[in-house]
Amino acid sequence: MARFIDELKRTHDNGALRASDIGREVVLFGWVESRRDHGSLIFIDLRDREGITQVVFDPDSSRAAHDLAEQVRSEWVIGVRGTVRSRGQQFSKKENKLVSAANPNLATGEVEVEVLEATVFNRAETPPFEIADTLDTREEIRLQYRYLDLRRRPLQRSLRMRHAVSQATRGYLSSQGCLELETPMLVKYTPGGARNFLVPARLAPGKFYALAESPQLFKQLFMVAGFERYFQIVRCFRDEDLRLDRQPEFTQIDIEMSFVNQDDVFTLVEGLIFAIWKAGLGVDLAELYPDGKFPRMRFDDAMRDYGNDKPDLRFDMPHVDLTALVVEHAGGGVSFFEPIAERFRSGKDRLDLPAEIVKALRVPADAGLSRTDTDKLEQLARSMGAAGLARAKLAADGSWTQSPFAKTISEPLRVAINDAMGAKEGDLLLLQFGKSSLVHTVLANLRVHIAKKLGLIPEVGHGDQWKFSWVVEPPLFEYDDASGRWGAAHHAFTRPHDDSVPLIESDPGKVLCYRYDLVLNGFEIAGGSIRLHDPEVQQRVFGALGIGEDEAREKFGFLLQALRYGAPPHGGIALGLDRIAMLLAGSDSIRDVIAFPKTQKGTDVMTDAPNPVSAEQLAELFVRTVLPES
Ligand code: AMO
Repeated sequence: MARFIDELKRTHDNGALRASDIGREVVLFGWVESRRDHGSLIFIDLRDREGITQVVFDPDSSRAAHDLAEQVRSEWVIGVRGTVRSRGQQFSKKENKLVSAANPNLATGEVEVEVLEATVFNRAETPPFEIADTLDTREEIRLQYRYLDLRRRPLQRSLRMRHAVSQATRGYLSSQGCLELETPMLVKYTPGGARNFLVPARLAPGKFYALAESPQLFKQLFMVAGFERYFQIVRCFRDEDLRLDRQPEFTQIDIEMSFVNQDDVFTLVEGLIFAIWKAGLGVDLAELYPDGKFPRMRFDDAMRDYGNDKPDLRFDMPHVDLTALVVEHAGGGVSFFEPIAERFRSGKDRLDLPAEIVKALRVPADAGLSRTDTDKLEQLARSMGAAGLARAKLAADGSWTQSPFAKTISEPLRVAINDAMGAKEGDLLLLQFGKSSLVHTVLANLRVHIAKKLGLIPEVGHGDQWKFSWVVEPPLFEYDDASGRWGAAHHAFTRPHDDSVPLIESDPGKVLCYRYDLVLNGFEIAGGSIRLHDPEVQQRVFGALGIGEDEAREKFGFLLQALRYGAPPHGGIALGLDRIAMLLAGSDSIRDVIAFPKTQKGTDVMTDAPNPVSAEQLAELFVRTVLPES
């Protein structure tokens, strides 16, 4: 029988020992963080997930243990039995006297363990990078040896915080009467929404499952089935292009409730977020939101002011919509504006739902942007698909310099724009015009980019400014230029506002709905809706989307059928757990809070997935691959 583990059980973790333990005999296990050989004495910092304890090997206490410590190297796994003692005093050259040897930066810093007996559980090869808090090793290498990367304290902290978030979620939602229920991951492929991963079905040759992009339809079926309140911490799969806040598999806190309206969903989620911040960070959000509520912003206002439905509200710098002014002044002599003004004059475009717009951003004079800085902004705008970035610098008399429009713009339009922008001498106006979606994207990104450059946004990891906002009342339909049809902006089962219902056929673009997102510091951390459970309105929504009866049956047959068997009014939401953890951890990449994430290209460099499989395996699945010609 082995002495350590079988006989000698671990008595403490490496973060536990304090001065009050002096004199106690203890057994500690862990990894060698560092080893210092002072000749007769060898010091090892022994690490486990709870902390570090200094252990001392003195040949006078145990010759065998000291011999062993001479061979030990970083990251070896060892066990020790010994006695806790004070770190005592050491001579300080600086102060020329004996001072306490305690390490105030370590929770166990007052004590050390004098080793009486030791064992090596396992040796370790020299790791490819240091197990240190900060590293400049390339992420790809860190991901290749993720199990070593995960030993580092920041990642240990992030994953432990994730645990706290999950526990708080379970506790809070259970206390609110939600049942934790599971839904299938191998599901029927339904078009629309995010692209699905497909799984060939061996038992049904030529057919495929989809990996669930969310439990959406099933959670609605739970409501039809009478479970009333559901939640699940659930893995979702989406075959999308990846970004810093996106992974192909990610985790949602998924919620659905019966007999609720939008306010009820908000109240539940606000309580949940408060509980998560408390558990994850010890932060009491009541100090920032004394009534327990997050502010709400209309979708249209978010687009108008920030060009984005997930604005970062830690700074202001709104966009200003100049379309109406440009129309009023018939383009004001600017050749680029004239065709836009003409669209509205001729009735081709409308100001309450414009397809083309003119917007601008004001950068205050004291930002001191140089011409090179502005040229760089233009490059950035071009990289997003813009034709350019028109600018104007205000002179003392309000005239424009450094502007392609300086000579042509009429004085009345220039004065009107200066007024609308609240612009003063030295301010810089950045103008975008054309298709509203592009104008919004470009200016929204510029707004954030400039704010970062001007230091208006705290560096990642240094901010505790939590700017939550609900974004509400978005349109139900979205016009798709490519197909020339109205499509569902979110999904076809979102409930329209009652007073919008008459507009479904006559003015689909003006139909507002009970869809909502929760945004935090520029990230969408949750999204959901009140569902449409009225078959008659449902039919009209399908009509506006150009979905006929057969198509509806084929796509959503089982849900439509279920909704006919007594569906209660219901609604729900899903929170992005990884994004929340990322923001809580003060990290700028979602990969930092996922134990085994995929790279930006969707690969796992540690296990080498995805990988080719044999012809036999493919044959068994009735699948043949056709590779692109390289
Ligand atoms: P939605 O698609 O808005 O809603 O997703 C909900 C939340 O999940 C997070 N999220 C992601 N996180 C990481 N990587 C991704 N690829 C990713 N995609 C989404 C976001 C988002 O706000 N079924 C609906 C919810 C509902 O209507 O109840 C849904 O999935 O934080």
